[in-house]
Amino acid sequence: MAYRRLTAAEAAAMINNDENIALSGFTPAGTAKAVTKELAKRAIAEHEAGRPFKVGIFTGASTGQSCDGDMANAYAIKYRAPYTTNPDFRKHVNLGEIPYNDIHLSQMAQELRYGFMGDVDWAILEVCDIEEGETTCKAYLTAAGGISPTAARLAKKGVILELNAFHNPNAKYLHDVYEPLDPPQRLAIPITKVSDRIGKPYVEIPASKIAGVVECNLPDEARAFKDNDPVTDAIGHNVAEFLVQDMHRGIIPNTFLPLQSGVGSTANAILGALGTDKHVPNFNIYTEVLQDSVVGMMMEGRVIDASACSLTVSNECLMQIYDNMDYFKNHLTLRQSEISNSPEIIRRLGVIAINTALEVDLFGNANSTHISGVKMMNGIGGSGDFERNAYISIFTCPSVAKGGKISSIVPFVSHLDHTEHDVNIIATEQGVADLRGKGPYERAQEIIEKCAHPDYKQLLWDYLKIAKMGQTRHCLPAAFAMHDTLERKGDMHLTDFAEYVK
Ligand code: COA
Repeated sequence: MAYRRLTAAEAAAMINNDENIALSGFTPAGTAKAVTKELAKRAIAEHEAGRPFKVGIFTGASTGQSCDGDMANAYAIKYRAPYTTNPDFRKHVNLGEIPYNDIHLSQMAQELRYGFMGDVDWAILEVCDIEEGETTCKAYLTAAGGISPTAARLAKKGVILELNAFHNPNAKYLHDVYEPLDPPQRLAIPITKVSDRIGKPYVEIPASKIAGVVECNLPDEARAFKDNDPVTDAIGHNVAEFLVQDMHRGIIPNTFLPLQSGVGSTANAILGALGTDKHVPNFNIYTEVLQDSVVGMMMEGRVIDASACSLTVSNECLMQIYDNMDYFKNHLTLRQSEISNSPEIIRRLGVIAINTALEVDLFGNANSTHISGVKMMNGIGGSGDFERNAYISIFTCPSVAKGGKISSIVPFVSHLDHTEHDVNIIATEQGVADLRGKGPYERAQEIIEKCAHPDYKQLLWDYLKIAKMGQTRHCLPAAFAMHDTLERKGDMHLTDFAEYVK
């Protein structure tokens, strides 16, 4: 039986103002992109005709321009969760126009199931292949696991499938589709090693729910990252050296432990440094986004097995995976975000988590999301899922930003994503602060000594001198003096803290 074929515009025309749509994908990888582009055009036409048109958008993680960018520019988003990286979307969020709910990625599918965000009206899934059965549709996902099975199961009005010829049908060999039960019926998720597969290779959907199939040929809207530079290389080297020392001290088993590494150039540099360090044995990856650097290391056998939620890689790299599926289907597994980022599994496997912060404070609190406490950068992503539950929780950042005008080490973070209770290690290009087994004042000393940029060390010591004695030493009127000085003078270098001390 062949399901009804629709154009993307016809599919978009089925979606009404005030409804909620849930998309496949995780990052631009595997995200449905034909229908949302048309939906944005539809919103513009509706607005021009004087009619309201906004929808709620639920995703696995960030999307590309065809969703977050075009929909935000069309003023067509009434609510959005979770993570996003799109600059246009960021602009509209920071203008206060879009309610953006930045939740931990592992929680997205279950919060939809629990009904925290209202109904899912439509699911739009990008697929590489479909078995168009009379009663059951088997939908094969493309480059990401995301929240797809939950989206399809909850969709009240129907499921739209984007059959995207850009993706090789071989992508089906990578997927392990598994949706846990909800409490109080939930069972242990039976993954005990990175390569375990516990579900099916497809999303099963009642055929009666399929509203139509949109055939398209659209590349993934892969995001380019900055190339490595001497600073990111130095951070990578510092982290690799630190992990090797921990292995030699017996803290990390000599078989090593699975690694999670966040997105971005720093993350890429760290993995590169670990890959080339001869003291690090071949290792596994249990992460949410797989980047180009890991794919190369898999081909070399340096990374043995990898589990991820998405292939957040360049399109050339994606084709390399598709062309070598005999190898990758045995070594690479794509999962739903609530499994790739599951606290239960991260703890069981002993994942070492490495993520990037915008700023960290003297006591080990980290801000990954808000510039100067106010402007959203991207979102927390999976960093909280991993850092809170990791065997070793590592945050990295360059010691300064914007050519030295901003110190990434501050007295108090201007927004808090990861508390001091969840952070073991901070690494900058200056060095590595080991916060384990230390009280707050010792942590502050360690962070200033090892991680702060020399230009800011004295200022940070000065802050500690004026701080009120206590378990955690602070001078509240001066805690944001560096941020305030940045706001007023465009640079965090304040002369002294005197004007802030009342
Ligand atoms: N104050 C103001 N701006 C700062 C800053 C600070 N303390 N620290 C960094 N920045 C700026 C940089 O200058 C840069 O701006 P630019 O693009 O105008 O040059 C920007 O923030 C981001 O830095 P970038 O060099 O692009 O770093 P990155 O690619 O390593 O990304 C994060 C860093 C924090 C934005 C990114 O890792 C992130 O979104 N993290 C949160 C989610 C997460 O950790 N996910 C991990 C699991 S996937």
